[in-house]
Amino acid sequence: MEQKRDTSFFGQPRGLMTLFFTEMWERFSYYGMRAILLFYMIYAVDKGGLGFGQATGAAIMSIYGSLVYLSGIIGGYLSDRVLGPWRTVFYGGVLIMFGHISLAIPLAKLGLFLSIALIILGTGLLKPNVATMVGNLYQPGDERRDAGFSIYVFGINLGAFVAPLLVGWFQVHVNFHVAFSLAAIGMFFGLIQYSLDGRKHLKDTAHQAPSPLQPEEIMPLICKIVGIIVVFAVIIGAMAMMHALNINNVINLLTFVAILVPVIYFVVMLTSDKTTKAERKRVWAYIPLFIAAMLFWSIEEQGSVVLALFASDQTALHGAPASWFQSLNPLFIMLFTPFFVWLWSKKLRDKQPSTGVKFSLGLVFAGLSFVWMAFPGMLYGVNHHFNALWLIASWALVEVGEMLISPVGLSASAKMAPVAFQAQMLTVWNLSDATAQAANAQLVQLYSKSTEINYFLIIGGITIMAGFLLWIASKRIKALQIGLSD
Ligand code: PHE
Ligand code: ALA
Repeated sequence: MEQKRDTSFFGQPRGLMTLFFTEMWERFSYYGMRAILLFYMIYAVDKGGLGFGQATGAAIMSIYGSLVYLSGIIGGYLSDRVLGPWRTVFYGGVLIMFGHISLAIPLAKLGLFLSIALIILGTGLLKPNVATMVGNLYQPGDERRDAGFSIYVFGINLGAFVAPLLVGWFQVHVNFHVAFSLAAIGMFFGLIQYSLDGRKHLKDTAHQAPSPLQPEEIMPLICKIVGIIVVFAVIIGAMAMMHALNINNVINLLTFVAILVPVIYFVVMLTSDKTTKAERKRVWAYIPLFIAAMLFWSIEEQGSVVLALFASDQTALHGAPASWFQSLNPLFIMLFTPFFVWLWSKKLRDKQPSTGVKFSLGLVFAGLSFVWMAFPGMLYGVNHHFNALWLIASWALVEVGEMLISPVGLSASAKMAPVAFQAQMLTVWNLSDATAQAANAQLVQLYSKSTEINYFLIIGGITIMAGFLLWIASKRIKALQIGLSD
């Protein structure tokens, strides 16, 4: 039975408007907090910070960013089997809001770690399920779906753009805790909007779990959870006994876990008897794309860590908050999007390069954005306050890369997924960012003024070389992908 098409939001279903604003406010809170969090951790106590060392602060930024997307696995499961997306998103938003409140009240380290825990869990519940609900607005074959996702991504970037400007201003002119409270208020607006507006416009299916947990599945599930907790308790206990329980070793452990998880996903998909032969080839073809995406997100996500340090220590700010540079990433995305929409859908159409070629170009741009950052230090010495244009140009480059990788990878993940692992493949796509940031938790500790030239040259150079390798492999990837039709 054909449902009447809802076109009340610029030709799109009205529910998209609710989800647009939910995600916009959630990203506002997240990126507003991230824009000042590193400074909060490493500033001296008398400057309102926590006085952590730079390497530790940077590593925490990265492992935190990793776990925020890794926890999407829990959110996906809860929504699918227990709560349904509607409630999962709502509870996630509540946890996130309390996470920001923990930083808004001056609780020092306790507030920090409480906040991190709440926001990791909350974002895991909220973010993947907002995306799922966007997808559910469209019947299969509805040609508005891609445009719907573009609008939703625009919401992400709008929130991410405004927040550092506002939150950064309050951090500099008032203090950290007042600034963090803006993030809490943003998430509060998001929740109000979601629950009032969404109640009317997101009814139908979102309230039930699509495949509810059966009574006989509960015991095995509890056993698994207990098993995982026991394993971690044993490891942590062993670390404590060896007097090795410290932030750095916890970060090492988490890096290991975050790298292991996508490997498990791939092994399961490749060995499952639900995966057909043609599908298996496509999963193999997807693996180099996943690795490329990891390399890309590694550089992209260092924008809020390594480039943030460069902005605060080595850039002539003329009184502007260093955190304002964090708005450049989403700003360039918003500026570039119309061009790329035109390029793919009007200019090139069926002459578009393949996914592999787009990814390889994306890697080259990301790599260049880092190699470029080696130059100011090489030309003028590292003890200098450089013109802001260095950073601005670096972000412009990496965001061209993001246009070639982020939307392209998302849709390739949907297309290349085995039928039985459709949802899992989107999780795997999010893991490309999570795993990259887990690796970053190790990498960024190597960054300092004295290493920056080599740091940027080596990471940038490797990424550019990987781009060339992928370009060479892209014919073969395409051939495996063509398995699509058989
Ligand atoms: N900036 C992206 C976002 O906030 C980062 C991201 C990429 C997150 C891929 C998850 C997966 O949505
Ligand atoms: N660039 C960030 C994300 O991909 C804001 O949307």
